[in-house]
Amino acid sequence: MEKISVFGTGYLGATHAAGMAELGHEVVGVDVDEEKIERLRQGEVPFFEPGLPELLTKHVESGRLRFTTDAAEAADHADVHFIGVGTPQKPGENAADMRFVDSVIETLAPLMARPGVILGKSTVPVGTAQRLAKRVRELAPVGDQAELGWNPEFLREGFAVEDTLRPDRLVLGVDHHNPGTVETVARSVYAPIIEAGTPFLVTDLATSELVKVSANAFLATKISFINAVAEICEVTGADVNQLADAIGFDDRIGRKFLGAGIGFGGGCLPKDIRAFQARAEELGVGRALGFLREIDDVNLRRRVHVVDLAREAVGGDLKDAKVAVLGAAFKPNSDDIRDSPALDVAGKLHLAGAAVQVFDPQAMENAKKVWPTLEYTSSIEDAVRGANVVVVATEWAQFREADPHVLAGLAAHPHVIDARNCLDVETWRAAGWTYQGLGRHATAG
Ligand code: UGA
Repeated sequence: MEKISVFGTGYLGATHAAGMAELGHEVVGVDVDEEKIERLRQGEVPFFEPGLPELLTKHVESGRLRFTTDAAEAADHADVHFIGVGTPQKPGENAADMRFVDSVIETLAPLMARPGVILGKSTVPVGTAQRLAKRVRELAPVGDQAELGWNPEFLREGFAVEDTLRPDRLVLGVDHHNPGTVETVARSVYAPIIEAGTPFLVTDLATSELVKVSANAFLATKISFINAVAEICEVTGADVNQLADAIGFDDRIGRKFLGAGIGFGGGCLPKDIRAFQARAEELGVGRALGFLREIDDVNLRRRVHVVDLAREAVGGDLKDAKVAVLGAAFKPNSDDIRDSPALDVAGKLHLAGAAVQVFDPQAMENAKKVWPTLEYTSSIEDAVRGANVVVVATEWAQFREADPHVLAGLAAHPHVIDARNCLDVETWRAAGWTYQGLGRHATAG
């Protein structure tokens, strides 16, 4: 059993803190946001993540998990400190904003009065960990005995608990000039996961940082690749879903992340590919990642394309058209609307003059804060009622399972744009809908 602190209690930090308690450790979660900490103390998760409220409550009650805003309390309690704060895109720039990570180091390191290990989990530009390791040694009263390693996180929202407790792999970057106890400590923290056979890779600091951004850049590339092919399918009458199935059987390619649609969003993939490019440019090797700009462009084009399809569907002018947008979250099983393609499309339709009726099973409260001028309905049916066109923008099971017969009776015109290629085409057509997928016989009625 280790005594652990986790700095940052957002998606990553809160899940990691609860996960570490589940592994048997004594954990304190730290955040500067008093209100968030108070909610977590009550066992309440301030965002939607399946399974997390149960795990959190379990360990707040077991006493293995507590929360504080007091960094000194955390420094006093723990020998292992995780950093799980955000590294969002800098306003007006592509680079990552490191202020939250830096602030944890500046706060925590001076409080390290006995030997301890800091393990960074946040996604950071390559070179950061080396810089922070040096800073920690400078600031900590114990000097060299305050060590830093990098242990990137690969969890997916919606599967965060599962990904924390049963990850595909663990990666640990250690400082080869001063490897110290970092590896031993990490092996102890993750002992049950390592014993279950999970690959545990120990690298230098730079490699560990690059593993994370490369993984996300690769995933983004896969999605934009298939979306680029979808553009070709659209002008040739081919079907991108069948194509993805066919190439996906080649296990060198694989079918996962070849889901064509309105593309990727969220708090990670878009900002990570931009930060990766920005860092490559700083390092003088910008050309190496020049293709990521294209990946970004393909991705953003899909959103515009969906708006164009909706415009065509209502006869060429969105003014006064009623459009139902099903979905606001950036993906299902999440209430996260950060860079959500669904909400972006809803906003663009609204700005083009349409009356937009949005329904999402979880993300409406968050969406309202960003787009208060859209109409939010309390059901799929209310969103679809009177609509000239329906856009399915997030592939929630609820939308896939909705009865197209019932919905056809409610819409002014039964025309659906399946921007996630998630509906059963034949069932919807049989119920009287004009169906358009993305890259799927898009022009067929
Ligand atoms: C992503 C990575 O998948 C995680 O491994 C990583 O740890 C995480 O970022 C992070 O850096 O923290 P996440 O942002 O939760 O996880 O979302 P994904 O499941 O990767 O989906 C990203 C976007 O791609 C979503 O908008 C999704 O709808 C879209 N997508 C995904 C597609 O358009 N097509 C696909 O085939 C798959």
